[in-house]
Amino acid sequence: MNTVVASQTETKSPPAAIVPSKDFLSLNPIDFENHFSRTPFLIDHSLSDHPLFQLDRIVELTKTLPEECIEFNAGKLPISLDPGLTPRNGLSPEETVRRIEECESWIVLKYVEKDPEYRKLLNACLDQLRPYTESIAPGMTQAQAFVFVTSPGSVTPYHIDPEHNFLLQIRGSKEVRMLDGGDPSILNEEELEHFYSDRGRNLQLKPEHNDAGWKFDLQSGKGLHFPVTFPHWVKNGDAVSVSFSITFRTPDLDRRRALYQINSSLRKKGFFPWPVGKNYLRDSLLYSGFRAQRRFKAMLNKG
Ligand SMILES: [Fe+2]
Repeated sequence: MNTVVASQTETKSPPAAIVPSKDFLSLNPIDFENHFSRTPFLIDHSLSDHPLFQLDRIVELTKTLPEECIEFNAGKLPISLDPGLTPRNGLSPEETVRRIEECESWIVLKYVEKDPEYRKLLNACLDQLRPYTESIAPGMTQAQAFVFVTSPGSVTPYHIDPEHNFLLQIRGSKEVRMLDGGDPSILNEEELEHFYSDRGRNLQLKPEHNDAGWKFDLQSGKGLHFPVTFPHWVKNGDAVSVSFSITFRTPDLDRRRALYQINSSLRKKGFFPWPVGKNYLRDSLLYSGFRAQRRFKAMLNKG
């Protein structure tokens, strides 16, 4: 297992490669070149004292976001969990944030870019990321941000996510365990088909993978890049944690989703489809057919 202590300075690249941030992030171009969208890596940020992440401001946010944008539950969970069995905490979102120190809970405020102040901050961060991500994954779109507030010791079970993600640790600390999503022995085709067919994002951590992958001790002032669908679970440190997740998608992810959905339906019909990415021509033909069908359906709906 690779262990990285996020509070320490990265030593792989010369200090001269660090580009001083004129805004909120300090980014190392060499890290993007070597790791973006392929393996996790750390960045620095200066958002720890930002007023948008004071608990009183986050309480205000719980009052203005639509109900469906707030997910919260008890925080003392096992690493592998069926989402249907997630226990509630019996509080409102507002009370959950106010009492986060002692209520043993986990709350996420989703799509906080609906609030103009958070949107402005998200866009400022993405403007800094774009020059480094475009040459690797072009077409940044669907900018979305999430605020996580968690009680000491809370656990986010083992799961995967569909977006390019940078998790910025604002307050407190988190232990993040991440496994290689490109290794089929860690994450297989059927699990990806399940995920992309919207049948759930939680996974079962296999006992033989308990010590696999990377371990990050993410401290305030550090951010971590999560490549798309790299499985991870998170354990909060012994203080209240506040994190800000900045995410975006790219057109290649739309293609990826479509191909896994196609393979899922082929498998249901008794076929054994080629793994996505194994045969570029086959993938391209299937995706072209999928897009043509989607356009045809959209025309019918308009008519
Ligand atoms: Fe996640």
